[in-house]
Amino acid sequence: MSAVSEIAARKEVIVCAGAGGVGKTTVAAAVGLRAAAEGKKVAVLTIDPARRLATSLGLKELGNDPSRVSPRRFSSAGIDMRGELYAMMLDTKSTFDEVVMRYAPSDEQAETILANRLYRNIAGTLSGTQEYMAMEKLYELHAAGGYDLIVIDTPPTRNALDFLDAPRRMTDFLDSRVLKWLILPYTRAGGGIFRMANAAATTFLRVVKRIVGSEVLQDTAEFFANLQGMYDGFKQRAREVAQLLQSDATSFIVVTSPAADSVAEATFFSSRLNEAGLPFGALVVNRVHPRLGDPIAVRPRVLQRLERGDGEERLLAKLLDNYEAFMRVVSLEEKNLAALARRVPKHCWVRVPYLEREAVDLPGLWAVSEQLFDGPADA
Ligand SMILES: Nc1ncnc2c1ncn2[C@@H]1O[C@H](COP(=O)(O)OP(=O)(O)O)[C@@H](O)[C@H]1O
Ligand SMILES: [Mg+2]
Repeated sequence: MSAVSEIAARKEVIVCAGAGGVGKTTVAAAVGLRAAAEGKKVAVLTIDPARRLATSLGLKELGNDPSRVSPRRFSSAGIDMRGELYAMMLDTKSTFDEVVMRYAPSDEQAETILANRLYRNIAGTLSGTQEYMAMEKLYELHAAGGYDLIVIDTPPTRNALDFLDAPRRMTDFLDSRVLKWLILPYTRAGGGIFRMANAAATTFLRVVKRIVGSEVLQDTAEFFANLQGMYDGFKQRAREVAQLLQSDATSFIVVTSPAADSVAEATFFSSRLNEAGLPFGALVVNRVHPRLGDPIAVRPRVLQRLERGDGEERLLAKLLDNYEAFMRVVSLEEKNLAALARRVPKHCWVRVPYLEREAVDLPGLWAVSEQLFDGPADA
């Protein structure tokens, strides 16, 4: 039983994390597909899937809640689906709107925020919001309790760690001194926003105003002043999300490619999970070139003779040359993975080879899931 199939059988939440482009979305979708095929009711929360993958999961028509992938799609892909697969693509802006409506002390305040120009411009793009909203959605889905398993993909942050820190960074920012200064003159009282006579803040604001213009400043300050009322809600939710992630119900799959930089990130990420008390479940090394067999040691003299020989011999020489080049790639990948091998126990490793077709449709995903669930155990 692979580490992935083990956690898919026992956990309620699986988080797929790793550097950008390594295959997080693919792994999340493949794990969800297989767990559903085995009989579970699964929700996959993807972020930014390839267009064809989104189409094959029926993600095009979707709103900001999981919707069921039609059973017909599985039968036409030859997949025996015993459970139910739901999928959704995270919509950061809509999730942010939902959060605002949930935590705003009044409908009026929620409307003020939603109508704020700054909010409308930044809600989907502010650094850290995508991560925060992914966690928010995960929490909401888990708390509602409709699924046996929720598999969540993580945003393509430059650094996989940003994702772990997002809720804290968001609350730190809301708590920051600069922000307090900025919003001081707009502190809410009795339903209206009024100017407070504070000499220091006024001086500070004059400077800021000169730089960014007064309209922008007004929007910004009003936005954050309104957000302050929701601060406790945010903080509380960040705590609850952290609890869920640390609980026995959750497991992390760290995805990496065999390239040196993503291995370095996965190594660091694994130790950070450990420090943060987050449950590490499996390491997926995606797109490896598997060792086909032992190196073939051909003496240079023999090779030279083949190269000068007849058609078949020359072909054989080329084949040997190719094989050697391939084995060099394999060795390089193994060298890159060595540091990780010292940190992550063997039973957690799952390797997915470089597949000849992109995993952007159901049969492609199924092929990945077979590697993830039934692939050979690590030697
Ligand atoms: N094992 C694999 N073999 C071949 N192609 C793969 C494999 N894993 C992922 N891909 C392809 O690589 C691309 C990037 O994968 P994706 O899951 O979107 O990465 P991420 O979510 O980490 O950015 C996709 O087009 C996907 O189909
Ligand atoms: Mg992705």
